[in-house]
Amino acid sequence: MLKKKIVVLTGAGVSAESGISTFRDSGGLWDKYDIMDVATPEAWARNMDMVIDFYNQRRKQLHEVEPNAAHYALARLEEKYDVHIITQNVDDLHERAGSTNVLHLHGELKKIRSSVDENLVYELEGWELKKGDTCEKGSQLRPHIVWFGEPVPMIPKAAEITSTADIYLIIGTSLNVYPAAGLVDYVRSGTPIYLIDPGEIHASNISDINFIKEKAGTGTPKLVDELLKQAN
Ligand code: OAD
Repeated sequence: MLKKKIVVLTGAGVSAESGISTFRDSGGLWDKYDIMDVATPEAWARNMDMVIDFYNQRRKQLHEVEPNAAHYALARLEEKYDVHIITQNVDDLHERAGSTNVLHLHGELKKIRSSVDENLVYELEGWELKKGDTCEKGSQLRPHIVWFGEPVPMIPKAAEITSTADIYLIIGTSLNVYPAAGLVDYVRSGTPIYLIDPGEIHASNISDINFIKEKAGTGTPKLVDELLKQAN
């Protein structure tokens, strides 16, 4: 029998219980750093050292954390569903938990790329990118991250996947950052939407929504168990 398609949009909250800071919660990363100093092309032009160091610290931390119950639960969904994860996260915790179909909207921490040719993307060994590390064309390597003010090349693909979902899950995102937050507009009307987040989410564009006000690590396994049961 053809498996139903579940599309999952995740944000920083899904990795919070692994020990990775979210961005906009109190004490989150954007409380400690100014976006304009570390996550824009202008910051890269002005203060490359600071940008490199910011992402080196994030990458170093990624080597020290593990997937949590939410990531593992989403991987289990593949037993009965055709699962597509669209993540705003730059960590690799979905993949490490076993999810096989993960689209990264905002790039990947463990990858670096040429600063003159965006098609030259490499896996970084270890956590440290250094000033002076160059691509085969001789230009400085930069983090493989979509910075504020840059296009989000994976959006058309993400929108297409979203528009064919039979069930849509949103986990751990404040839905503040566009175009990612606008993906939900592509969900076909009548598609069940579940949102898991312990915070207040203002998503006026989502009408018929099942809001599960819980942390991802507890809410996701429960919802996954329920969905697996439904598929039997
Ligand atoms: P935010 O920090 O904006 O939102 C995190 C969400 O996670 C909030 O809604 C929290 O309530 C929720 N949350 C916190 N702890 C949680 C838990 N244990 N379980 C579930 N949810 C929890 O992060 P994002 O929405 O992912 O982009 O931010 C989107 C983008 O903005 C990021 O990809 C990043 C950032 O700037 C770039 O850097 C390009």
